[in-house]
Amino acid sequence: MTADTHLSEAPSVNGKEGIFPPPRTFSSHAHIGNVDEYRRLYRESIESPETFWGRMSAELDWADPWKELLAWELPDARWFLGGKLNASYNCLDRHLMGPRRNKAAIVWEGEPGEVRTLTYQQLHWEVCRWANLLARNGVAAGDRVVIYLPMIPEAAIAMLACARLGAPHSVVFGGFSSKALRDRLVDCGARILITADGGYRRGKIIPLKERVNEALEGVSQIERVLVVRRTGKPVPMQAERDRWIEEEIQEDDAGCKVTPFESEHPLFILYTSGTTGRPKGILHTTAGYLLGCALTTKYLFDIKEEDLFWCTADVGWVTGHSYVVYGPLAIGASVFLYEGAPDFPRPDRFWRMIERHRITILYTAPTAIRAFMRFGEEWVEPRDLSSLRLLGSVGEPINPEAWLWYHEKVGRGRCPIVDTWWQTETGSAMIAPLPGATACKPGSASLPFFGVDPAIVDDQGAPALPGRQGKLVIRRPWPSMLRGIYGDPEGFRKTYWSQIPGVYFTGDGARQDKDGYFWITGRIDDVLNVSGHRIGTAEVESALVSHPKVAEAAVVGEPDPEKGEALVAFVTLRQGEAASESLKDDLRLHVEKQIGSIVRPKEILFASSLPKTRSGKIMRRLLKELVRNGQIEGDTTTLEDPSTIAALAKEVGQPT
Ligand code: PRX
Repeated sequence: MTADTHLSEAPSVNGKEGIFPPPRTFSSHAHIGNVDEYRRLYRESIESPETFWGRMSAELDWADPWKELLAWELPDARWFLGGKLNASYNCLDRHLMGPRRNKAAIVWEGEPGEVRTLTYQQLHWEVCRWANLLARNGVAAGDRVVIYLPMIPEAAIAMLACARLGAPHSVVFGGFSSKALRDRLVDCGARILITADGGYRRGKIIPLKERVNEALEGVSQIERVLVVRRTGKPVPMQAERDRWIEEEIQEDDAGCKVTPFESEHPLFILYTSGTTGRPKGILHTTAGYLLGCALTTKYLFDIKEEDLFWCTADVGWVTGHSYVVYGPLAIGASVFLYEGAPDFPRPDRFWRMIERHRITILYTAPTAIRAFMRFGEEWVEPRDLSSLRLLGSVGEPINPEAWLWYHEKVGRGRCPIVDTWWQTETGSAMIAPLPGATACKPGSASLPFFGVDPAIVDDQGAPALPGRQGKLVIRRPWPSMLRGIYGDPEGFRKTYWSQIPGVYFTGDGARQDKDGYFWITGRIDDVLNVSGHRIGTAEVESALVSHPKVAEAAVVGEPDPEKGEALVAFVTLRQGEAASESLKDDLRLHVEKQIGSIVRPKEILFASSLPKTRSGKIMRRLLKELVRNGQIEGDTTTLEDPSTIAALAKEVGQPT
């Protein structure tokens, strides 16, 4: 038996049966080729974790073997105690001893069209030279380094060079504004920043260096800015502080000793949005994170030596950390990297690159798939996509129509689709089908990965009735889980471990069907998901109220056919300020400047007052209802002034 034959529940999609068993030809070559094998391993991972992880941890190369699997004192988990290893050694050096030495580690295509390939040997050489450069600039184990780069091989090189020195990196997405960059580098206390003279996107240059200069105005903490020459265009350099990497780096710097670090040595800090106005620095450590990435990459994407794996995420997001850099390189896979926009110069750019490089595995986001659907199948159909054998999805629930389009138009009905549910905090994929074993149901991320113990509970933490919507929690620690919020241990406990006592609360709503499949419905806290990007409503609100004309702001999500959700901002103005279309444009620009271009309110609605509880809290629930249904029927008894609702509905319905 290659698949579950007894699955009972799956909504039909476009009139078709909603269960897709793994293709037999795929299963027969897969790392895990039947569902019984998955169930056996899963059971072992939960019931005998020592045995399971004892075996699986051999996927990594340890300088000192670990002695104790887990020390768990809520909310602090420490894994693989006594073990020592180096993440960069695991991603590079160990592959140099055998036939992988001359294998492509990174195949890169720049947006203007140039192609560069780095073998494992070449990547190792670069990483060593960079690590030596960083060390010469005073970087030592424990020092934080901020990386603000486009999607060029140097992004991976920089991350691995930091890891080699045990210096936690904090990558800031190149689309974030100078203000967002400043907030992050101040929070993590970095002294060194790595950037570029720019990067290409949709034919234009992203002015990274100019933004860095702006971010560092009045900030003296950054002692050195190391700059990659990418575009060759002149950029303002500050004599004392800034250096071109190509001028600083030394040819004969090749050797760089590797120091093993303890399993729990910090590997990186990555900022993500939460329910407060400020992003949180999610902290990941070395062994558990790397092992989670390595195992999920191997089993969920069924990677083989000859694969070329393309995860389209930017390294500025966790998906880029785990599935562009650490996971694939830890297992010696070849990854493809692309710098620019998916529709540049034409909407078939992705398909042309798959054709040109014979990419075998594509891992992207539903929002991208929906954009491709909108461009039209005439862009994908003529291309030769016969190299593809597996597809992946991440970042938001995939709607069954997009799943089916992906399956038929891109996968040509041949490729399994791995829908992976996870978060910045979880480090690696948590709920996802094993492509050779698990039957897929479009829209469901399916079953938990090894060692992951999810459940659906009600507000009190009691198990939700089968099929009922509830809160998604994880009942026990897993190796790649976050180890904290940088500088905020209380926030860590409160956000994740106290809402439902004793378990990790994901912030997501979900239900589990009769077959045990998980159906994630999306965030149930004040976090929005716009085009697969995680955006805190409070963050956008605080950006809006920092505008001199704004008194108050409340941001809610509205369903959007392409982006998943779109931002709608309710704004009240300061006394004497008048609403106008040009002020709306001004506010949109202001938010972009404060956070980045990924955050652009779709609608701005001016109101004379916002609905509040008697204790003064804005009732976003009502605003959401108003946006979604055009009216409010929900409970308004806790409103301080019920008349605001009628006024608001009238105002919102009227053009300003
Ligand atoms: O709501 C879930 C959604 O994205 C959130 C995590 O966002 P972030 O930390 O930015 O990481 C995104 C990439 C891992 C989750 O709380 N999400 C992510 N993947 C899925 C998903 N929702 C449904 N299905 C998914 N496959």
